[in-house]
Amino acid sequence: MKRHVVAMPGDGIGKTVLPEAIRVLDAVGFEAEYVHGDIGWEFWCKEGNALPDRTIALLEEHKLGLFGAITSKPKDKAAREIDPGLREKGYVYYSPIVTMRQKFNLDVCARPCISFEGNPLNFIRRDPNAEGGFVEPPVNVVVFRQNTEGLYGGVEWTDPPDEVRKALETHPKMAKFKNVPSADLAISTRIFTRPACQRIVRAAFEYAKRFGYRSVTVCEKPNVLRETSGMMEAEAREIASDFPGIELWSTNIDAQMMWLTKNPEDYGVVVAGNMFGDIISDGFAGLVGGLGFACSGNIGDECAVFEPTHGSAPRYEKLDPSIVNPIAMILSAVMMLEHVGEMEKATRIRDAIGAVIREGKVRTYDMLRLPGGPDAISRGAATTQQMTDAILANL
Ligand code: NAI
Ligand code: MG
Repeated sequence: MKRHVVAMPGDGIGKTVLPEAIRVLDAVGFEAEYVHGDIGWEFWCKEGNALPDRTIALLEEHKLGLFGAITSKPKDKAAREIDPGLREKGYVYYSPIVTMRQKFNLDVCARPCISFEGNPLNFIRRDPNAEGGFVEPPVNVVVFRQNTEGLYGGVEWTDPPDEVRKALETHPKMAKFKNVPSADLAISTRIFTRPACQRIVRAAFEYAKRFGYRSVTVCEKPNVLRETSGMMEAEAREIASDFPGIELWSTNIDAQMMWLTKNPEDYGVVVAGNMFGDIISDGFAGLVGGLGFACSGNIGDECAVFEPTHGSAPRYEKLDPSIVNPIAMILSAVMMLEHVGEMEKATRIRDAIGAVIREGKVRTYDMLRLPGGPDAISRGAATTQQMTDAILANL
């Protein structure tokens, strides 16, 4: 059966890296047709909508998407850059990614942070038993982040309406804000729902079971955020009992950020709410190579979209040849293959990437810690296309 994948390159280097991932998918024999989906800044400017309805319709139809990256800008810039014919017509800029997540309830975000042997960007640690020596602990963590609620749920106000103030004042802890004028009050809510907690925790445990991880760590802050973090923890304890071989650990977000730089090799699957999940996944991603390697999947019941974590890096868009690392995008394609059950193809691509990195002959500028720019190539960096070619040669 030939699948249809909605390919949404977006802006900037999204347009560079997505075709590279498709080259690899084709080479590994994934049978798919790629249907182009418009998304990004260009469509905000031309149409007043960064995620046009026709793209939503494509996702509704095909239920599988590969996405590059988009550019987004602050409100005032968005208003200035929209087509003059659309000005003052009430168009408001919304992030197309957030819209996509909400629209299709892509509430499970998976972010694997798995080190490749030989990556010069891997985390190293001083070895107390060897003078001047160091160890390079292998990191193999997959963060599951609730993608639609919590602090990023969008329920917030500056100068909240009176009804909101009144409702909040039913809580005794609001007393200390009693004399603050509403105009000086900014409120962002952190709303968790039990079903969403259950879904993210279950997704984490199921992943741990499928891929053989021994532990799931729920990373919140229940000692302070008793209600929201408390709910996530309680659901985790409940669900853990359905997965007897897998240990449930619990950490606080702040302590977790410290421990991940001390003993990252101890962690397996980590699960958290929206904001803490965002933070820990960037933390672990930094230990395994950063933005050039950070892939992600936004997964709903029906629809799933895979994307690198990086943005559109507009500084590099026009560089010819391109120098950005395509691996984050290619690893996102690997996640898509795993999602649709093409395990053998996924493993072949991952192994090919591993071989290129281990060999160490072809490295993009980020892997060499060079400043990004046209000079990078004369200083030994591979181009985007050369990196993909090297991966293809190892397939
Ligand atoms: P960015 O991720 O686009 O770039 C930051 C820096 O990371 C780059 O200057 C570059 O040095 C490095 N980098 C990023 N991707 C790389 C790759 N594949 N290989 C090597 N190096 C890479 O973040 P920035 O500059 O903060 O944002 C640029 C635009 O992207 C903004 O408009 C922002 O809103 C948007 N953005 C979009 C995201 C998305 O589409 N998911 C996520 C983050 C930012
Ligand atoms: Mg982030």
